[in-house]
Amino acid sequence: MTQPLAAVVLCAGKGTRMKSDRAKVLHPLLGRPLAYYPMSRAFELGAQAVVAVVGHQGDAVKEALTTLFSRQPLTFATQAQQRGTGDAVAAAREALAGFHGGVLILYGDVPLVTQDTLRRLATAYAQGKGPLAMVTCQLKDPTGYGRVLRGPGRRVMGVVEHKDATVDQRTISEVNAGIYVADSKFLWDALAELTPKNAQGELYLTDIIEQAARKGEVATVDAPAEETVGVNDRAELAERAEVLRARINVRHMRAGVTLLHPPTTFIDEGVEIGPETIIGPCVSIQGECEIGAAVSIGQGAVLVHTTVGDEAEVKPYSVLEEAVVGPRCQVGPFARLRPGTRLDEDVHVGNFVETKKAHLKRGTKAGHLSYLGDAEIGEKCNIGAGTITCNYDGVNKSLTKLGDGVFVGSDTQLVAPVTVGDGAFIAAGSTITQDVPAQALALSRTPQTVKEGWAERRKKVLAGLKGS
Ligand code: UD1
Ligand code: CA
Repeated sequence: MTQPLAAVVLCAGKGTRMKSDRAKVLHPLLGRPLAYYPMSRAFELGAQAVVAVVGHQGDAVKEALTTLFSRQPLTFATQAQQRGTGDAVAAAREALAGFHGGVLILYGDVPLVTQDTLRRLATAYAQGKGPLAMVTCQLKDPTGYGRVLRGPGRRVMGVVEHKDATVDQRTISEVNAGIYVADSKFLWDALAELTPKNAQGELYLTDIIEQAARKGEVATVDAPAEETVGVNDRAELAERAEVLRARINVRHMRAGVTLLHPPTTFIDEGVEIGPETIIGPCVSIQGECEIGAAVSIGQGAVLVHTTVGDEAEVKPYSVLEEAVVGPRCQVGPFARLRPGTRLDEDVHVGNFVETKKAHLKRGTKAGHLSYLGDAEIGEKCNIGAGTITCNYDGVNKSLTKLGDGVFVGSDTQLVAPVTVGDGAFIAAGSTITQDVPAQALALSRTPQTVKEGWAERRKKVLAGLKGS
C-alpha cells in the first residue's frame, strides 16, 4: 500500500458471556492474548501506528499489550462508556491526530482474520474510488449481524444492523465483518455526524458506510466466515483455538517439521521449530519455546518456555519448564526439567530424574532416579542412580558443585553447600557433607560385616521356636 496506514483495534468490550474477571481480549488463545492476533496482523500489514481502544479493565489490558508489543508503535485510547462501535473508534481520534492516510479498523476479539484478507482489503481500498473499503462475509445464518445493503449494479448503499432491519433485509446473507479501511479525514468527519437514533440507542460505526457510499464507491472483499467470527464465550474460544491450532500445525509441517499426529499436537503461537524435527502424538509445546533442527520429541512430552538444541531427543512423557537443552542431549522418558535447568551438549538425563536450577556440562550423564537441584556439574560426570542433592536445610537453598569427570556412585546424598573436585570418586551409598578434593575417593558408609552361616542358623532357631 502506498498510502500510510494506521490501525484502531477495539478492545473496550466487557465480554459478559465469558463469565470472567479477566478482560475478554486478554484471554489466552494458544499462549497469546486474543488481542495479540489482530494487533500483530496490523503491524505486519505495515501500520505505522496502532491504537488500542480500551475500556473495561483498561489498565490490565494496557499493561499486557504494552509488554507484548514493547518494540512496536502501540498507543492507547480510553472509551469510558460503551456507547457503540462508532464511539469506540472516535475515541482513537486524538491518538491519531496528525496522521493522514488509511485507518484499518479491527476488533480485539476477532483473532482469526488472516494477512491475506487484510492485504486484499488494503489493495481494494488503495485502488478503489471511495473513502472506505470493507470486509464482507456470506453466512448461512446471518442472525445478529449487520446486513450489507446493495443497490443497482450491486453498489453498496449502507449497512443495517439486525435489530434495525426489516423482515426483507433480514433475508440478506451478506454481512458486515466489522473490518474496514477508511480515509482518516473522511472517518473523523463521518464519526462526528453519528447519532444514536436506532434500535439500540448506540453510535453505530456502520452508519459511516452510507456516508462513504454517498462520497464514492465502497469496495468490498469477501472473506470466509472462519476468519471473521469473534469470541463471545469460552466455547467459542475453544472453537477458535482449534482453527488456529490446525493453522499453526500446517505452517510447521510445510516448513519441514513432521507431526506424527497433528490432531493431538498443541503448539503455541510464536514457537519456533527447525526442519527435520519429529514430534510425536499428544505433545504440547507452550509459551516461548525454540526447538532446533532434527530434534525428536516423543509422545506426551510437555515443553514450556524451553529451548532445545539441534539433534536432541526428548523422550516420551518428559516435562520441561524454563529449561535449556543443548544439542544432541537425551532427556527422558519421564524426566522432569524444572526452571533454571541448563544442559550443555551431549548431556543425558534419564528416567525419573528431576532437575532444578542445575547446570550439567558437556557429556554428563544422570541416567536414573535422581534429584539435582541448585547444582553445577562439570563435564563428563557420571551421576549414579538415586543421587540426591540435599539443597535445602529448611531455611536456605545451597549449591552443590562438581568438577569435571566426577564419578558419583549410586544412592549418594550430596549435602549442600558442598564441592567435589575434578576426577573424584564418591563411593555408592555415601552421604557427602564435606568437600572432596580432586582425584580423591570419598566414602561414608559403615564397613560391611559378613557372618558366615548366619542364615542357616537363623532358620534352625525359627524352626525350633515353632516346634515348641
Ligand atoms: C458489529 C457491527 C455489525 C457487524 C458485527 C460483526 C456495528 C454497529 N455493528 O456488531 O454490523 O456485523 O460487528 O461482528 O458496528 N466495542 C467497543 N466499544 C463499544 C462497542 C463495541 O469497544 O462501545 C467493541 C467490542 O468489544 C467488540 C467490537 O467493538 O470487540 C464489536 O462490538 P459488538 O458489540 O460485538 O458489535 P456487534 O453488535 O456484534
Ligand atoms: Ca459481536
